[in-house]
Formats: sequence, structure tokens, C-alpha cells
Amino acid sequence: MRRILVAAAVLAACNSPERAPAGAPAQANLPTHSPADISHGEAPIGTGATPAPIDAVAPPRATSRRHKIRLEMRHTRIVLTDGVPFDAWTFDGQVPGPVLRVTVGDTVDFTVVNKAPIPHSMDFHAAEISPSRVYINVNPNDSLQYQFVAHVAGAFMYHCGTAPVALHIASGMYGAIIVDPVRPRPAAREYVLVQSEFYTRSAGDKADSTAMAIDWQKLLSLAPDHVVFNGRAAQYATHPLPVKAHELVRIYLVNAGPNRASAFHVVGAIFERVFQDGRATPTFEGIQTAEVPVGGGAVFELRLAEPGNYPFVSHAFADATKGAVGILQAK
Ligand code: CU
Ligand code: CU
Repeated sequence: MRRILVAAAVLAACNSPERAPAGAPAQANLPTHSPADISHGEAPIGTGATPAPIDAVAPPRATSRRHKIRLEMRHTRIVLTDGVPFDAWTFDGQVPGPVLRVTVGDTVDFTVVNKAPIPHSMDFHAAEISPSRVYINVNPNDSLQYQFVAHVAGAFMYHCGTAPVALHIASGMYGAIIVDPVRPRPAAREYVLVQSEFYTRSAGDKADSTAMAIDWQKLLSLAPDHVVFNGRAAQYATHPLPVKAHELVRIYLVNAGPNRASAFHVVGAIFERVFQDGRATPTFEGIQTAEVPVGGGAVFELRLAEPGNYPFVSHAFADATKGAVGILQAK
């Protein structure tokens, strides 16, 4: 019996395109190819010569004290990853929605217009307000206006809250709003990352057989096909984010989910400070990995010790394999 097993294992190893290391289980489908020759090299690393599809640079600190913000809810086909089309539900036709930035004490005068064929809504985690008054469904071709004052500094999620919320979020209806403290944080190179998941199946589109749509069963089973920063798998590995060695880097991270917590980690670095949500005093100092829950945010501050490529990942590594990986490229 043992001899038969050994023979089967040898046969499997011979049939496998890449030989499994000694002692590894003989599974023909085990991925043994490393996309990049670097620790945590979950995706091929580009040169940074071309910009990423979605800019991760944080918008500048707000100068006005009142913000008229108008967003449109639209169903549109976006490009998911590797050029794959995906039938998304969006704010302003993009996933994530636009990054908004205000300062504590500012008034947000918000209008949402529903140009989609089904009801949607808008929930700002940065607001303290009655959901039953303003986080209500907006019917197709209708609009809703409300105001709130941002009282708490931080990196906050916004999203459609129409039930089933998991479907509306996983279809693309989320984004980040940064609320700055009145006294500015120290000058830094700033990026915004929104982590989220995509659950896909064929859209059944005869004109485009590559097009994908959301898979509700995968969503309920918590089995995403892609886990991404800013809407596309590994886009900041193929288009690294430039930084300078030793400079202060600040990353605003919002985890839209809808299901996977982010275990945010930068390889080769230790966070100087992590401000959960964005509170005034650091939640952690000198920490290797900090979890950002679904529906939460955090502000990460770090410096890179020398020039090089520093992967940032969700250290929940199935998610990094599925695209939650990028590179900070220090010059
Ligand atoms: Cu919605
Ligand atoms: Cu929420």
C-alpha cells in the first residue's frame, strides 16, 4: 500500500509543471510560482513609470468650511482587474466613489441623485445624524439633500445602506471621507486606500463573454474572488506608490469589506503611530500590524529606513493572494 502511495506521489510530481518541494503534499493545483522575487511578492512589481489606474494620492486638506457635495448613483460597467469588465453599482460611476476631505467643524451640504433603476441610499460614517431621517432610500430619478457637521477627525467610510447592504456594498457603493483635525497633522506624503472585495460570476453578456456580475452566493459564503485596494487587485504592485526613504508617510485606510477585516502591514517597516478611525492620540505606537475592521478606518504613519520596494498587504494572506497587495517604492 505504502509503495503504491509513493509511486502515485512520484507520478504526480512528474506530471506537475513545477515540482513541489520535498515533503510538500502532492497536489497538482498547488500554486508554487512566486509572482515577484521578494518576501510577500504576491504580485508582479512594476517600475512606477506609469500611474496606477486609480490615483491613491490623498486630496489636499480642505480650505473652505462649507462643502457642497453632489454625488450620482449610477449602475455602470467598470474595469475590475486585468481588464475584466464588471457590472457595478457606483457613486459617480467609479469604485470606490470619490475621496472626500473636510475638516472638523465643517458643514457638509450633501445632495445625492439616483440615476440608477433601483432605490439606493447614502450613509456617512463621519456624520452623527438620524438614519431614519436621512439614510433613507432614494428612488430612481429622485434626489435627497441633507447636511451634517463633521465633529470627529478620522478616515471614515461612506456607503449605500439599502438592504441587502452586503449586495450594495459588494457591488461598489462605497468610498472614503477624511475628516482632518482643526490643528493639521504634521506634513507627510499622504495616500488613501480603500480595501474591499469582489465576488464574481459571468454576466452572461452575449456581446462580451468576459464581462462579470456579482455572485450573491459567493458573497454570502464570504468567498471573494478579489480583495483589492482602491478597486483593482494589486494595482499598486504593478504601479508602485512613490515615497522617499525617511520621510513621514501617512496612509488613510478605510475597509469597506463587506466581509473581510484588514490586517494592514508594511513589509520592512513598523508603524510609528496608528490612529484608529483617526482619533487625536495614537491608538498604537510601534506596531507591526493593525487590524481595520469592516466598516472602520485608521490613519497609519510610518517611515521607510532605506531605498527599496516595501510591500503593503493585508496580512490575512489569502486576501493578499487575491489582490490586497501593493508596493511603497522608496527612493
Ligand atoms: Cu445601493
Ligand atoms: Cu455603515
